[in-house]
Amino acid sequence: MKGIVLAGGAGTRLYPLTIVTSKQLLPVYDKPMIFYPLSTLMMAGIREILIISTPEDTPRIEELLGDGSKYGLDLSYAVQEKPEGLAQAFTIGRDFIGDDACAMVLGDNIFYGNGLNYKLKDACEAAEAGKATIFGYYVEDPKRFGIMEFKRDPKDKNALKVISVEEKPKQPKSNYAIVGLYFYPKGVSAMADKVKPSARGELEITTLNDMYLKKKKLNAQLLGRGFTWMDAGTFDSLQKATEFVSMIEQYQGMIISSPEEIAYHMGWIDDAKLKDSIKRYGKSPYGKRLESVLEGKVVL
Ligand code: G1P
Repeated sequence: MKGIVLAGGAGTRLYPLTIVTSKQLLPVYDKPMIFYPLSTLMMAGIREILIISTPEDTPRIEELLGDGSKYGLDLSYAVQEKPEGLAQAFTIGRDFIGDDACAMVLGDNIFYGNGLNYKLKDACEAAEAGKATIFGYYVEDPKRFGIMEFKRDPKDKNALKVISVEEKPKQPKSNYAIVGLYFYPKGVSAMADKVKPSARGELEITTLNDMYLKKKKLNAQLLGRGFTWMDAGTFDSLQKATEFVSMIEQYQGMIISSPEEIAYHMGWIDDAKLKDSIKRYGKSPYGKRLESVLEGKVVL
């Protein structure tokens, strides 16, 4: 199973913040935004990850994350010349994906919740078995997102049947946004080749999802009670995300979406590697939290 973090886009909704900086390198409380989506793929158990960004931002992101060995990962990088749509990630990533199943997470999407790893692992298993998975999350403003219409099986509340998927509909058929985290079976690059540009000229991820739906190969899960999803692409959502992370980290003594912490608990890095990162971060609160992880102060 492979993974892609799509960290492209001009970030115009955050101007002037993002004129000279990548949106995905902006802080969400104590760490750069890209740590969050990277951690989400790691929680799914994915270690071979491609980061796709703009020509300007890719070198900066690579400077931060390197080859991934600090996190027990194998990271590689590719450039998206122009923001021509999310589905393009799978054609840019064709060689990287090869004949494997592949997940993709958007670089400004933040996920938090107890048991998220189980949902992600289910989606990985479904992808390995030939089915795509999308996730739905209740929102008040459904016109801003990809939206899924679905039915529940009266006998099994966890089984969802997707009826339709629509990108930013004028008349949304539900309040469930399709979050920026997608799992696809092998062959996704060939499917993405068939996606035609939408009215706004983009290769929409929703068109790709619709193709899987029409082939009866689209699963969906809800991120319901106990889960938080945020897309930190606007000033308000960025500020709310910062407040959220600071509250959880300070009140629960936990560190959220730390690639080093996840790698350490997964057994992908040893004490020496974690110590190297602690040294790199100096006296910052993030470094201090990693020190607590090393000393075993926080019991999971
Ligand atoms: C993109 C997708 C949309 C999805 C959203 C989640 O929208 O096109 O389907 O619901 O991400 O963050 P964008 O934020 O690029 O407008």
